[in-house]
Amino acid sequence: MTKIKKAVIPVAGFGTRFLPVTKAQPKEMLPVVDKPSVQYAVEEAVRAGIKDIILITGNSKRAIEDHFDSNFELEYNLKTKKKTQALKAVQKIAKLANFIYIRQNKALGNGHAILCAKSVIGKEPFVVIWPDDLIDSPQNCIQQMIEVYDQYQSPVIGVLAVTKKEVEKYGIIKNKYITKNVHQVLGVVEKPKLSKAPSNLAILKGYVLTSSVFGILEKLKPGKGGEIWLADAVMKLLKTHSVFACEFKGKIYDVGSKAGWLKANIAYALKHPELKEEIKKFIAKDLKKI
Ligand code: UTP
Repeated sequence: MTKIKKAVIPVAGFGTRFLPVTKAQPKEMLPVVDKPSVQYAVEEAVRAGIKDIILITGNSKRAIEDHFDSNFELEYNLKTKKKTQALKAVQKIAKLANFIYIRQNKALGNGHAILCAKSVIGKEPFVVIWPDDLIDSPQNCIQQMIEVYDQYQSPVIGVLAVTKKEVEKYGIIKNKYITKNVHQVLGVVEKPKLSKAPSNLAILKGYVLTSSVFGILEKLKPGKGGEIWLADAVMKLLKTHSVFACEFKGKIYDVGSKAGWLKANIAYALKHPELKEEIKKFIAKDLKKI
């Protein structure tokens, strides 16, 4: 059995939902409290045993590379000023994993971004993580997906039960319940009306895929908006492979949208030891006066 060691994190999109802030800086670097959203994805992957993080980057994404590198000048400055805690927080980032950067020279879609990783992945199974999908969960979602892959040796889709209102925003699976947090995927309906939704299990966070997806992506025609979508390739995969879904428990924040990002910041600040009291008071008292 091949152990999953590689994760692909696509970060080359334009982030149009977050303009104008994303004009010259990556949305993946926008902070949730004090860490950029992409760092949450990397840390969760590393805790799940991932060694190689493959970031698919593009124009205006240089800050991501700098973030996961060491910064000698800054470290020297913090050392001299004896800011030990800040120094530790900064130094640990570059040591999290082996970081590999692949440039997607045209943002042709998230499926095309995954295809850019083909030669680095080779024949190994790998994880895909959408850094926009921040799930506040007591469990490690990536580890759960890997465990499902290890058991069934088939591609795995991450899913979460969403409310009736949210069903129309996501790809929704038609499922056959297998056990605990595992379902077999019988089909997918993209952004269905509630009355047409086969379940309330929404596709998000990521996948475990095998190299067979690359052959499909290579032949895939552009879909909605003229982009090459990973979701379309996975739909095709379903015709020839058993695909399983790993159901997460937790609260999803779409940090690639303004409202989702703001909500995530409030929720995470309310759990942050240094901030929670001040933010709680701000919400309970000060906000009421505005
Ligand atoms: P999105 O569908 O959220 O697109 O991409 P986007 O451009 O980032 O954001 P909006 O919708 O315009 O606001 C999902 C993930 O795939 C990456 C994005 O960076 C994001 O992490 N992506 C998307 C690529 O790497 N390349 C692409 O061509 C498109």
